[in-house]
Amino acid sequence: MLVLGVETSCDETSVSIVLDGKQVLSNVIYTQIDIHKVYGGVVPEVASRHHLRKITHVFDQAFEQANVKPEDIDLVAVTSHPGLIGSLLVGINAAKTFALAYGKKCIEVDHIVGHIYANYIESDFDFPMIALVVSGGHTELVLIKDHYDFTVLGETLDDAVGEAYDKVGRVMDLQYPAGAKVDKLAHEGKPTYKLPVVYVDKDSYNFSFSGLKSAVLNEVNKCHMKGEEINIADLACSFQTSVVKVLTDKTIKAALDYKVKQIVVAGGVAANRGLRESLSAAAEQNNLKLTFPKMVYCTDNAAMIAVAGYFKNKYQA
Ligand code: KG4
Ligand code: ZN
Repeated sequence: MLVLGVETSCDETSVSIVLDGKQVLSNVIYTQIDIHKVYGGVVPEVASRHHLRKITHVFDQAFEQANVKPEDIDLVAVTSHPGLIGSLLVGINAAKTFALAYGKKCIEVDHIVGHIYANYIESDFDFPMIALVVSGGHTELVLIKDHYDFTVLGETLDDAVGEAYDKVGRVMDLQYPAGAKVDKLAHEGKPTYKLPVVYVDKDSYNFSFSGLKSAVLNEVNKCHMKGEEINIADLACSFQTSVVKVLTDKTIKAALDYKVKQIVVAGGVAANRGLRESLSAAAEQNNLKLTFPKMVYCTDNAAMIAVAGYFKNKYQA
């Protein structure tokens, strides 16, 4: 089955063609990061306009690279939520117009479910599984008993992890999106700053990152006021150590509590080197199968939407 995936929920315009939920024939991503970084974040109105400008070209490239004709597509899958409404509308309109013109079925896919299914490109799923979802807008632990059977066990009560990375990066004068830059700096420093590791409460699967974020901002302000130089690499390392510790501990606890066969990590922060190292070591210690998506499938892309659409069509639609 050939699935055409379309993703325009934020600042990436992406179209992909995937065979049987697994083999990525094309995955074209046009990123608007350079446009938004001068504003320090995504400007919704600007994002919609750029999706509109690029979407037809990205469609054409996806077909060209996959060497597939529009008539060959069996199913169209498009991100319907969550995301910026103006941006989502561009993708939804394009996908539905394509489906109508060629007489194809079109189904809507949840963006977060797409992030989870990015793992399927790497590895088959052994149920039950725990998904750690860590993106710019979401931080969740999800129990997955079977395809398209999701129970959210816990989530962030305030900032998402990616959001905390971006805000901490901002006070360190790093350009948006700062997550990968903070990650790189963290590997050049030592965890010398005393920062909180917030568990909300020990048995809960919920997270909270705003206190940690404020603690980092306080350190920076204190140094500015005293006229002292701040060691950015050490501060990044201390911040990352706190984040990674709580993410690792809660994920392993959920995996053991629910006796799962696999852990998958999803979303932009799944690219984080510190998280990959820490979770890999903890999973190995506890004899748990762990998968991360390939780097290119960690951040927003349409291949993950096509894979999720393939399974939604099979098990739910
Ligand atoms: O999943 P994603 O592409 O977009 C959303 O759906 O939100 O995630 C983007 C987020 C941004 O906040 C970015 O700073 C963060 O993922 N990110 C990282 C890393 N790479 C991207 N955060 C920490 N470490 C990284 N290596
Ligand atoms: Zn995303």
